[in-house]
Amino acid sequence: MTTAQARRLPPLRGVLLLPAGLALLAGLDAALLLLGFPAPLTFSRLADVHGYLMTLGFVGTLISLERAVALSKWWGYLSPVTMGLGGLLLLSPVPLTIAFMCSLVGITGMCVNYAVLWRRNRDEAVLIQTLGAAVAAIATLLLISGVPIRVVVSWLAVFLILTICGERLELARLTLARHDGTVLLVLSCAIVLTLLGALLWPTVGYPLLGAEILGLTIWLGSRDVAMKLIRTDGLRRFMAACMLAGYFWLGVAGAVWLLGPAFEGVRYDAVIHAVFIGFTMSMIMAHASTILPAVLRRPLPYRSFMWVPALLLHASLLVRLWIGDALGVLEAVEYGGLVNVIALLLFFGTAVVSSILGPPRTAPSPTKTPPAVKSPTVNLPNPETADPAVPTGATEVSPSSSPTLLALAPAPKDT
Ligand code: HEM
Repeated sequence: MTTAQARRLPPLRGVLLLPAGLALLAGLDAALLLLGFPAPLTFSRLADVHGYLMTLGFVGTLISLERAVALSKWWGYLSPVTMGLGGLLLLSPVPLTIAFMCSLVGITGMCVNYAVLWRRNRDEAVLIQTLGAAVAAIATLLLISGVPIRVVVSWLAVFLILTICGERLELARLTLARHDGTVLLVLSCAIVLTLLGALLWPTVGYPLLGAEILGLTIWLGSRDVAMKLIRTDGLRRFMAACMLAGYFWLGVAGAVWLLGPAFEGVRYDAVIHAVFIGFTMSMIMAHASTILPAVLRRPLPYRSFMWVPALLLHASLLVRLWIGDALGVLEAVEYGGLVNVIALLLFFGTAVVSSILGPPRTAPSPTKTPPAVKSPTVNLPNPETADPAVPTGATEVSPSSSPTLLALAPAPKDT
């Protein structure tokens, strides 16, 4: 095999995406069971583990894999390996506590990875993400000690909110004032303290948590570079639209919590899926074209068809939360949820097909594209495969930077 052929093969770490992919498929299967639809798999506890499987088994493994790539140390991969294994154990007959313990080892590994990244680059964004990982560890400990999932859900939500907002801060560095990182860090600490307080005094804690999350959404969303990129086109507009939609849903979750604790019923369904589908999955859609190539060293070219699953996801979520949860039409919750599942399958299916097909024919010829920046730690997406509007190599990469930072750096015409 020639060196060029070897380079085209996905690296071994791509195998670590498999447990995350399985967790996603099993989690969607469980979502169908929870909604009362027939589903391909029906083990006894599948529906019970849906939330943890999706949050830690799928998204957690993906995040820890991305961080391990940024760290570029062999031992950094122990975190995604154990988190992925924890997700698979949830699907096996072993006691749930063993699966949670395995995930806990992975989350602890993620904290260690963040600590090393922090020593390399003392950025508040890394501290905020570390705080998120600590929240995931506490959520897992609460589950191990028997606290019901409906109480732990807000902890799982804050894990994802802090992790994603930390990543957005890394990017927004290009447009933010230096002290803005400190503001976000203080807000993140306040959110975690409020979560702790909400365990004891939920009637006061949740409205406060809602207010803080609303404040975070307005503050970060209005400063995010997505506000500028929405006026561009191609991949950058797609990413910006997904991110702005994500902020919208995060604001909805904040507003629902502002009304008080949401441990059951329609407000529970609304708050959960505003955060987990509206915010988290939308942010994943926004960043898929840059994160996956960095992990797999295989291009995931943007195609305008990606708008179809993204629009379907948000439209069906609107139906589910507004007509279903707010107006009380049960069928809208069920069928909105069903279309949520279809939209996610369509998006990830499109991503796989797009990656196999390679760049669309309209892509500029390779000779006209600028060379990729060689990062010490991150294998960047090949600019031949990305949207021409994405200025790969527009900025320097710090050792802790995520590949998303490069891909979304504003082009000179935007700044
Ligand atoms: C895509 C379609 C999805 C559907 C149709 C769906 C459906 C559901 C349903 C019906 C519930 C039970 C709500 C209740 O008891 O009132 C639930 C709970 C939950 N979901 Fe989802 N879900 C989906 C995606 C996701 C995703 C992507 C995540 C996380 C990233 C997630 C995380 C959770 C969590 C944490 C819970 C609460 C704990 C639990 O009941 O397991 N869901 N979901």
